[in-house]
Amino acid sequence: VKVNGTDYRTVWAEGHTVRFIEQNRLPFAFVINTTSSYVDCCHAIRTMQVRGAGAIGALAGFAMALACHEAPEKDPDYRKFIGNARSEIEATRPTARNLFHATELVYAAGLESPEKAMAAAQQVADRDASDSQQIGEFGNPLIRDGAGILTHCNAGCLAFVDYGTALSPVYKAHREGKKLFVYADETRPRSQGARLTAWELHQAGVPHLIVPDNAAAALMAKGKIDLVITGADRIAANGDTANKIGTLERAIVACEFGIPFYIAAPTSTIDPACKTGDDIVIEERDEEEVLYQEGPDAQGTMHRILVCSPGSHALNPAFDVTPAKYITGFITEKGIVEPEEIMKLVEARHASP
Ligand code: MRU
Repeated sequence: VKVNGTDYRTVWAEGHTVRFIEQNRLPFAFVINTTSSYVDCCHAIRTMQVRGAGAIGALAGFAMALACHEAPEKDPDYRKFIGNARSEIEATRPTARNLFHATELVYAAGLESPEKAMAAAQQVADRDASDSQQIGEFGNPLIRDGAGILTHCNAGCLAFVDYGTALSPVYKAHREGKKLFVYADETRPRSQGARLTAWELHQAGVPHLIVPDNAAAALMAKGKIDLVITGADRIAANGDTANKIGTLERAIVACEFGIPFYIAAPTSTIDPACKTGDDIVIEERDEEEVLYQEGPDAQGTMHRILVCSPGSHALNPAFDVTPAKYITGFITEKGIVEPEEIMKLVEARHASP
């Protein structure tokens, strides 16, 4: 992501130190955090300082590598220490497949040596960035000049190591000079659309508006939306897809209006172990995210305020599952495929990792 003229990845390593953009501080402050401890990385993922499928995956990979480096000082039993660390990292957030994809690869390398673990984590991060860039190449032709695009949550550069998925084709089309307009769902309760997607689009100079979460059907009815592109947190073998809560509603409404609904995701998000969406674990988060909102006052001082009726409780499922029948296609680093072809991509990933 370009910030004030400088290119940043969202998560990166410098030697045995990991640095990342603190997403909870955006869009009000641009802050970079630094750590050499895998426990700190777990905290950052759990508290969503780093969020978004690919960014979580990259930080989980580096966390696993840091654990391998920390192990010799902390426990005479190297395997036990890194095994426990892996369980701890994997317990931070259950839904995004990329996290587990990263820990699997880096743990296996870490069994050989801490250096191999760090090299594997770097590969996971690099692959995430290059996959996202490719998604932009394949998705760009879907965007016609003058298109209105609806997106949900944040699947831009912040949600990945770089480029993003749902927004990668948008950036590519915009750079090519196509006129396009993005409607960014605010995406309550944490407002990733209003805070992060809008910030990213603003940085890139892409024309956009933040729209309330309940505006999608009305916008589609008015002919403002030509296509919907969202990201994915986990894709089952039959194409059912878990993504931020509210995605399912967009997909059903798009289907009603005959508007193409695309999921943009790298093949590392596909989970062959989940046969259908019923097998995907959906994270339920703290009710406080629904009950409270945080932002600056006119002087820039941050406040957290109650926005619901005092004494009422809230339900806060973080994701929903969109059945494959509503998905027009998956924009991946290997090309665009229909839901029935999703498993062929896993085979292709293994053939050319
Ligand atoms: O809970 P988050 O913010 O980590 O949610 C993940 C997401 O950003 C979205 O579901 C996104 O559209 C998937 S792709 C990063």
